[in-house]
Amino acid sequence: MQLLLLSFSLSTVNENKMLMLQPPPAKYGGRHTVTLIPGDGIGPELLNHVREVFRFSCVPVDFEVVHVNSALETEGDINNAITAIRRNGVALKGNIETKHTMAPSVKSRNNLLRTSLDLYANVMHCQSLPGVQTRHKNIDIMIIRENTEGEYSSLEHESVSGVVESLKIITRNNSLRIAEYAFRLAKEKGRRKVTAVHKANIMKLGDGLFLECCREVASGYPDITFESMIVDNTTMQLVSKPQQFDVMVMPNLYGNIVSNVCAGLVGGPGLVPGANFGRDYAVFETATRNTGKSIADRNIANPTAMLLASCMMLDHLKCVFLIFPSGNSLSVQNFNFSCFFVLQLHTADIGGQGTTSEVVQSIMRYIQSKGQLTSDL
Ligand SMILES: *[C@@H]1O[C@H](CO)[C@@H](O)[C@H](O)[C@H]1NC(C)=O
Ligand SMILES: *[C@@H]1O[C@H](CO)[C@@H](O)[C@H](O)[C@H]1NC(C)=O
Ligand SMILES: *[C@@H]1O[C@H](CO)[C@@H](O)[C@H](O)[C@H]1NC(C)=O
Repeated sequence: MQLLLLSFSLSTVNENKMLMLQPPPAKYGGRHTVTLIPGDGIGPELLNHVREVFRFSCVPVDFEVVHVNSALETEGDINNAITAIRRNGVALKGNIETKHTMAPSVKSRNNLLRTSLDLYANVMHCQSLPGVQTRHKNIDIMIIRENTEGEYSSLEHESVSGVVESLKIITRNNSLRIAEYAFRLAKEKGRRKVTAVHKANIMKLGDGLFLECCREVASGYPDITFESMIVDNTTMQLVSKPQQFDVMVMPNLYGNIVSNVCAGLVGGPGLVPGANFGRDYAVFETATRNTGKSIADRNIANPTAMLLASCMMLDHLKCVFLIFPSGNSLSVQNFNFSCFFVLQLHTADIGGQGTTSEVVQSIMRYIQSKGQLTSDL
C-alpha cells in the first residue's frame, strides 16, 4: 500500500500568524458560513464527502447549500447563488454544466458567477505529489489566470450566414491587476520567476497589451525574473520540461488550456484544486472545472481535488485545519501546511482500487488515529 501525502497551503501557517494583525473574516458564534453549490456530475457527491470530513473533524464551518439547476434557461437560480456568496463572502462549488445545445444567449453559469462577483484571479497550484506515478517529477507551478475577460465574454454573433465573429476583450486595467496579483503572490511565496504567456506575435494589440502590462508590473519587482513565452511554445515546454516554470500568468483562454495540461502532468483532474479570488469574494472548486458526468454516482471519482479545494478555503478563512501526525517518517513538521491529508488508498484514476467513500473513510480513520486538531488563528 502506498502512502500519499497531500498538502495544500496558499498561505503558510507562518504567514497566517503574521496575518493575525488583519481583521478575521466575518463569522457568527465562532463559526464561518460558506455558500455551497453542489453543481452537476460528481460535484454533489464530492461535496457531501467534504461535509462528512468537516463534521467528523469538527471544522467550525456551516454550509448554506444553494442549488443551481443547469437545465433552466432562466438566470434566477444563479442569481440566488450569487446573492448568497455576496452575503457569506466565500463559496465552495462543484462545476455547473453548460449545455452546448442551449440557445447561444444562455451564458455559462460558472462564468456568470465569476464575472458578477468580479473574481478576476484564478489560482491553481500544480505540484508533483509523492506516491502518484507521473512521467515528470518535481513540478511546482503556480498558474495565475485572468478570469473575467478574454474570449469568455460570450460576445459572439453570426454576421452573415457561415461567418461568426467572436470578440476577445483585453483591457489595460484587468491586465494590470492580474499581473500585479501574480507578482505579489510570487513575492509573498518567495518565488523567483514569473512567465507571462501570450500570442502577441499574432494578436499584436490584445495580447500585446497584456504583455506590456505584465512588463510594466514586472519593473516594480526587480528581485523576480520576468520572462514571456508564446502559448504554443509554452504547451510544448510544459510537456517536455515542466520544471523550468515557477509562477505563470496569462489571459483567460490560455489559462484554461495551460491549467489542464498542468493538471495532467501531476496526475489528472482528480488531484488539483483551484480558487477564484476577487477583491471581495473567494470561490473554491476543482482546478479543471469539469463536471465528471461520465463517472458521476458510481463512487469512483477521486475526492482529492475537492478536499484540497476545501483546504484552500480553510486557509482563506484563516481557519487552520491541522492533522499533524507525530513521530512519523514523513517529517511533515518541516513544512508549514495549514492542512493536509495522508491518503493510503488510491482511486482508479491514479492506478488504485479504492472507491471514493473508501478513500474518504481512510482519511477519517487516519484523522481519528492521530487526533485531529482544528483551530482558528
Ligand atoms: C481603469 O482604472 C482607472 C483607475 O482605477 C479608472 O479611473 C478607469 O476608469 C478604468 N478604466 C476603464 C476602462 O475601466
Ligand atoms: C521556447 O522556449 C524555450 C525555453 O524557454 C526557448 O529556449 C526557445 O527559444 C523558445 N522557442 C521559441 C520558438 O520561442
Ligand atoms: C516553516 O516556518 C519556519 C518558521 O516557523 C521557517 O523557518 C521555515 O522555513 C518554514 N518552512 C517552509 C517549508 O516554508
